Amino acid sequence: MFEIVDLQKIYRMGDVEVRALDGVTLDIAKGEFLGIMGASGSGKTTLLHMLGLLDEPSSGRIVIDGTDIAKLTDYERTMFRLYKLGYVFQDYALVPDLTVMENVSLPAMLRKDRDDEQIKRDSYHILQQIGLCDRRDHLPRELSGGQQQRVSIARAMVNKPDILFADEPCANLDSENSKMVLELFREINEEMKQTIVMVSHEDWHKDYFNRIVRLKDGKVVSDGFNGKAEKAG
Ligand SMILES: Nc1ncnc2c1ncn2[C@@H]1O[C@H](COP(=O)(O)OP(=O)(O)OP(=O)(O)O)[C@@H](O)[C@H]1O
Ligand SMILES: [Mg+2]
Repeated sequence: MFEIVDLQKIYRMGDVEVRALDGVTLDIAKGEFLGIMGASGSGKTTLLHMLGLLDEPSSGRIVIDGTDIAKLTDYERTMFRLYKLGYVFQDYALVPDLTVMENVSLPAMLRKDRDDEQIKRDSYHILQQIGLCDRRDHLPRELSGGQQQRVSIARAMVNKPDILFADEPCANLDSENSKMVLELFREINEEMKQTIVMVSHEDWHKDYFNRIVRLKDGKVVSDGFNGKAEKAG
């Protein structure tokens, strides 16, 4: 569903050139729970931003379900993000003055394909699946970090995205809450067949992924399915 060919991202700062991505070629299949791993500065966030259409590559090609992203207008890209992609951020990015339920409803309201009643039902349903229904009228600050992250996962899932992206979603969580959040991602992947691409640099997270791509200096140094040896490349 996702095809990335020879992706490059070069940042220029004065005379200095940083090759954040240096020729990444990758296919992502439906249903995968892909972990992007690698040391700090290896290009993980940069790659995720390219895949999530949050930033544009310097060169290379991104094809999603047969659509070459470079050929889309800004408006089409925005619609693509809204209808096909979901995001979970490190800092949850919840709106502080909105309740849990309202936060989860937000992306559904941006889309104009459901009436308010349907949006309420969908938001309620996803909160139920994620086990936070009883907190729906609370404000984000009244929840723990782990619960806030689960709300942000519910928010990303309310539009049933083709791909769910997460950049270090556990970075601000202790190991117990991290586990809870990772278990939730695993459930979403296994039970809802959600395709997930997650960036992590914590080695123990690798047990949750079914495929791991490792980056080093903007290059893919290994790519393999979990449980089997990662193939070098
Ligand atoms: N906006 C930018 N301007 C200049 N250089 C950048 C910019 N964003 C990233 N870089 C550089 O690109 C390289 C890759 O950065 P990136 O954020 O993708 O790494 P990362 O693997 O996500 O690291 P971390 O684990 O620390 O989050 C780094 O050398 C970084 O300094
Ligand atoms: Mg990063």
